[in-house]
Amino acid sequence: MLSLRSISLVLLLSLDHLRVAASQCRLKVNNVLDDPSIPSPAPLPGNGTTTAPPNADSGNGTSTQEWVPFNYGKDTIRGVNLGGWLVLEPWITPSFFERTNNTNVVDEFTLGQLVDRDVALDMLKDHWETWITEDDFKAIKAAGLNHVRIPLGYWSVPLTESDTQYTTSVAPYIPGAWPYLLRALNWGRKHNVHVIVDLHGAPGSQNGYDNSGQRTGNPQWAVSSNVNRTVEVLRFIAKNAGGMIDVMELLNEPGGFMPSVAAVIRDFWLNGYSAVRDAAGEDIGVMIGDAFMGVGNWQNFLTPPQGHGVLMDFHEYQIFSKPELARTWDEHVEFACTHVNTLSTFASSNLWTIIGEWSNAPTDCAKWLNGRGNGARWDGSFNPDPSDLRTFGTCSNMTGSWEGWSDKYKTFLRRCAQISWSLVMSLRTHGLIIWIGHRYFEVQVEIGESIQGWMFWTWKAEQADEWSYQKGLEGGWIPKDPTDRMYPNLCS
Ligand SMILES: *[C@@H]1O[C@H](CO)[C@@H](O)[C@H](O)[C@H]1NC(C)=O
Ligand SMILES: *[C@@H]1O[C@H](CO)[C@@H](O)[C@H](O)[C@H]1NC(C)=O
Ligand SMILES: *[C@@H]1O[C@H](CO)[C@@H](O)[C@H](O)[C@H]1NC(C)=O
Ligand SMILES: *[C@@H]1O[C@H](CO)[C@@H](O)[C@H](O)[C@H]1NC(C)=O
Ligand SMILES: *[C@@H]1O[C@H](CO)[C@@H](O)[C@H](O)[C@H]1NC(C)=O
Repeated sequence: MLSLRSISLVLLLSLDHLRVAASQCRLKVNNVLDDPSIPSPAPLPGNGTTTAPPNADSGNGTSTQEWVPFNYGKDTIRGVNLGGWLVLEPWITPSFFERTNNTNVVDEFTLGQLVDRDVALDMLKDHWETWITEDDFKAIKAAGLNHVRIPLGYWSVPLTESDTQYTTSVAPYIPGAWPYLLRALNWGRKHNVHVIVDLHGAPGSQNGYDNSGQRTGNPQWAVSSNVNRTVEVLRFIAKNAGGMIDVMELLNEPGGFMPSVAAVIRDFWLNGYSAVRDAAGEDIGVMIGDAFMGVGNWQNFLTPPQGHGVLMDFHEYQIFSKPELARTWDEHVEFACTHVNTLSTFASSNLWTIIGEWSNAPTDCAKWLNGRGNGARWDGSFNPDPSDLRTFGTCSNMTGSWEGWSDKYKTFLRRCAQISWSLVMSLRTHGLIIWIGHRYFEVQVEIGESIQGWMFWTWKAEQADEWSYQKGLEGGWIPKDPTDRMYPNLCS
């Protein structure tokens, strides 16, 4: 998730960048994985080379859904990200960061540096154990979704010296999340929820955002052996868990706005693709991203015969710059519609394409969305670009919890889609967000449905309901059946 543009990065960004701003199975369905007291770090559950796929022998009543392989390219991906789970983000779980008692803990890197290791590991284990559970997989399935995307940090992938010629040290990061990923893969099988494993944090940081693990104005992924290390990490994941993974996303949001990243990203996609194919065979899907360069930059890349089973991940947010925040609600919807043509054209002549991240948030008001300790561009409490000091209103009522707002009010606002702009501005309430939220939800679903699919960011957030699929279902601004339309054909 794109939550931080540190000052130096923002200055590097041009407006354009902002605008585009198994058959083989190597895992056991192993009761050890269902043991609530997973040791961490835990031994791998065997290399599984002789283990049958869980779908082949899971007919003992434990499964509520029959596992059916997903028909990529034909069926529509409808899904949600499991953000803030195996990779922490301060804005998704501010309470976790507050509990460190140290305001300098701004990401997982500084957590490892500044908090006593045993204490931090206990906190992490508790979080891994509770933030996402099997019940979430059931609820996601019940919401009519067919995919989850699971962000993972490289530091959680337990390479040994025999797996790589590079260092296996992940210091100061705290490893231990790997068994929880494996358990989640099993839940996916059990509930017929397909899983995209998304390498979200690479050594050195691929973008400098806190959600890469390390918030820094000087990301180091593209230098030294970090790119090669990342390929080895992908190879390990594919070799040890590939049979349980539907799609392996090679890297989240590499910062192609940095020349160093732009210079290596093509070769990285190609090498990562080969590593995953070598290790996990032909059936696993592979996803790359546009690296903030626009899908047009990726014409004829990894298309057959160079690659097969490849997807393109495009992210759509309209809140991380003042010009985007300046859009009216209608303009947000209209702007979202401009993606339909670009993406569907690309998808029909190049790679299957999804919008792998988007949200209902029309502001950057969520606490710490721009990094722990930072405010929001919306109300002027965060101003990374000193040349544009516009503000757009107060952040109160734009984020936080929906609880307490009356159903009557929400219903009123949902019905009044044609409500006038001046009335909207005079209301300035949570209900307003529900109104925009519903249309904003639907227009982005409409983009995704015009291509190979969509994945909302994110399933849960502690105190930013406008980002929460779970809260949207509760509050009614996200439909129980994601194919329901209150506002059909917003883009036509
Ligand atoms: C996988 O297990 C087999 C049989 O136990 C063993 O021979 C092989 O070395 C193992 N491979 C890895 C990568 O651990
Ligand atoms: C599955 O169910 C059958 C029949 O009830 C039983 O014999 C078998 O032991 C069960 N297998 C497992 C792994 O529980
Ligand atoms: C933070 O402070 C509270 C209250 O003093 C304490 O219970 C807790 O253990 C501290 N947390 C850490 C990570 O030191
Ligand atoms: C990365 O790997 C390639 C070959 O796989 C090698 O030619 C190159 O020197 C490596 N780069 C670094 C910085 O280790
Ligand atoms: C919404 O905003 C108004 C005006 O700022 C404020 O009076 C009201 O208390 C807010 N409501 C909530 C629930 O925050």
